Amino acid sequence: MNRIISPSLLSADFSILKEQIDIVKKAGAQRLHIDCMDGHFVPNFTFGPFIVKAIRKLTDLHLETHLMIDNPSNYFDDFIDAGSDTLIFHYEASNDLRRDLETIKQKGVKCGLAIKPETSHQLLEKYLDILDYILIMSVSPGFGGQGFIEETLLKMKLTHEMCINHNCRDKITLGVDGGVNIKTINKVYQTGVDVTVVGSGLYKADDIIERFKELETQ
Ligand code: DX5
Ligand code: ZN
Repeated sequence: MNRIISPSLLSADFSILKEQIDIVKKAGAQRLHIDCMDGHFVPNFTFGPFIVKAIRKLTDLHLETHLMIDNPSNYFDDFIDAGSDTLIFHYEASNDLRRDLETIKQKGVKCGLAIKPETSHQLLEKYLDILDYILIMSVSPGFGGQGFIEETLLKMKLTHEMCINHNCRDKITLGVDGGVNIKTINKVYQTGVDVTVVGSGLYKADDIIERFKELETQ
């Protein structure tokens, strides 16, 4: 099982953003995770489409944009036009999930749903036919550097099994987001997931390239 690590730029040093992107690409990253927060859906406020557009100019890496915002569909076009390759919004923030997923898909962008630690994976079952990506939060969304919530490991395993049982496991990318680091990454991958989002566990390391390799091979 090859590990796909998606560096979360929220933990990067934005004063040297191009270098922070280039170094993870040099380390072997195939994608970047961009956390957009509105200060309403989550207590933190980060950045919007403008920054995604700037990042798009800096790299050809696959950009997975994680929207932690209320009324996400109001901003789909902006984040798609900014260059997102995968657009993930929260199950808890949408009032018409199928319409929202279809809207993203119709624009040729991969669509994803994120679920908070307290949200059951079973709520996603009826969208498996349209989903490209499921992002399982292993922290409460809003900040980097939080502690990994062990109880979410079972949900990762059950989500993996749910996709197998519905014959769609190969079609859907399973990602895990929050508190993934050198200590927790092994047990996360033992659940069967594909992608781990790593922010502080990568960008706060002294040697980012070495840490990326450790995370990949641990
Ligand atoms: C949290 C974000 C995560 C976060 C991950 O709301 O969605 O992507 O940046 O950062 P770490 O890996 O430090 O938990
Ligand atoms: Zn995220």
